[in-house]
Amino acid sequence: IERTLSIIKPDATARNLTGRINAKFEEAGLRIVAQKRIHLTKDQAGEFYAVHRERPFFDELTGFMASGPVVVQVLEGEGAIAKNREVMGATNPAEAAPGTIRAEFAQSVGENSVHGSDAAETAAAEIAYFFAGTEIVG
Ligand code: GTP
Ligand code: MG
Repeated sequence: IERTLSIIKPDATARNLTGRINAKFEEAGLRIVAQKRIHLTKDQAGEFYAVHRERPFFDELTGFMASGPVVVQVLEGEGAIAKNREVMGATNPAEAAPGTIRAEFAQSVGENSVHGSDAAETAAAEIAYFFAGTEIVG
């Protein structure tokens, strides 16, 4: 059974959308097997998003991710990585399919409400970045 790392981003926690976003995951058959609310520093956000370090929006991205609390969570299910990205919708909410989290809740390509791991290797690394094994209860 597959696991993926999800983050409910500051634009969504600010608008009290954690429960409605979690309902989308659970309705899709994803199980929330670990979850905590934290406030990242800009340095931590930069470490997490290190692959984007050369992108022109890196400073904006890390500043935004440190601008308020986030909810980090581990989602578990059959094909959890792909299923989560399907439920999230396209990065740009204007291109996100109807009914997806980003279509319903995201405000812009930057403030797009959720993050989800994009591959098995990144999922494992991202889960380990935030959670000890004992904090994940399947
Ligand atoms: P994540 O699940 O957050 O990784 O989103 P993604 O995989 O759909 O997108 P990608 O990995 O390409 O980009 C990572 C994040 O950077 C996005 O979710 C956005 O929050 C942000 N981002 C991407 N493009 C832009 C942009 O043009 N401007 C800004 N401000 N942020 C961007
Ligand atoms: Mg990504």
